[in-house]
Amino acid sequence: MVYENILEERDQSILIISINRENKLNALNKKTLSELHFAISKALEEEQVAGIILTGSGNRAFVAGADISEFADFNVFEAKELAQEGQSEVFDLIENANKPIIAAINGFALGGGLELALACHMRVASDNAKMGLPEVSLGLIPGYGGTQRLTQLIGKGRALEIILTADMIDAKKAYLYGLVNHVVVPEELLIKAKSILSTISRRSPRAVAAAIRAVNAFDKKGEDGFKIEIKEFSECFGSADFKEGVSAFLEKREPNFR
Ligand code: COA
Repeated sequence: MVYENILEERDQSILIISINRENKLNALNKKTLSELHFAISKALEEEQVAGIILTGSGNRAFVAGADISEFADFNVFEAKELAQEGQSEVFDLIENANKPIIAAINGFALGGGLELALACHMRVASDNAKMGLPEVSLGLIPGYGGTQRLTQLIGKGRALEIILTADMIDAKKAYLYGLVNHVVVPEELLIKAKSILSTISRRSPRAVAAAIRAVNAFDKKGEDGFKIEIKEFSECFGSADFKEGVSAFLEKREPNFR
């Protein structure tokens, strides 16, 4: 696929995907979502990729939301399709990925942009980042999982304040709320995200994928996270990574996971 709206860059086993519509503050239109779906799906299957960083081009925005101009004339049915397709093709794909995906929030992360960051496994923000869900000021509510993932992450009271006021919060408050894992100066944003992924890349890829599945079960309705943990834990014992990890420990050497 030839990309129009995203850029890919490789740094050893890390893939950096930048949403690249700088003059529209990287707003997510249909084409961008479809490119993200393609690039992420491909990276999840590539053995050489250990983790992914999602960020925005330029220094103003991560993503300033879904592209408002694209859905301005939508009816109820088109809106349902937009949310359903976006959620399953991109946002759920990210959340359920078998490799860690980190959002490097380098400016505005609003609406669908914050929802994209929320779908990632971790978030690192630059100290000039501004986050919010401004949908109610457009007569809408978040439609890419924001009402669910923000509430799970920071609790109902704080989530409702952000959603109902439509106000932005700064990086400091986002950190205080537990919405972002780290806040750094802009120059260190990618360095920090890469350093987290580089640490994870030295662990067992199979166990990393299993841990993501087990942690994700925590807030999936109808799933018993404890049971899933037992299943994932026990299945690790049948893996080559387990044999290698334990042998390496006993032989006092670094494990060499494939
Ligand atoms: N959808 C489509 N276009 C968007 C956009 C979005 N979500 N966010 C920004 N843009 C476009 C603007 O229309 C403008 O395009 P133009 O130059 O062709 O007119 C360009 O990006 C720059 O944005 P602008 O509003 O001029 O920058 P600003 O510094 O004055 O304001 C924001 C920055 C982020 C406060 C403002 O752009 C904004 O409120 N964006 C919408 C945020 C939103 O509601 N997101 C949720 C959507 S569901």
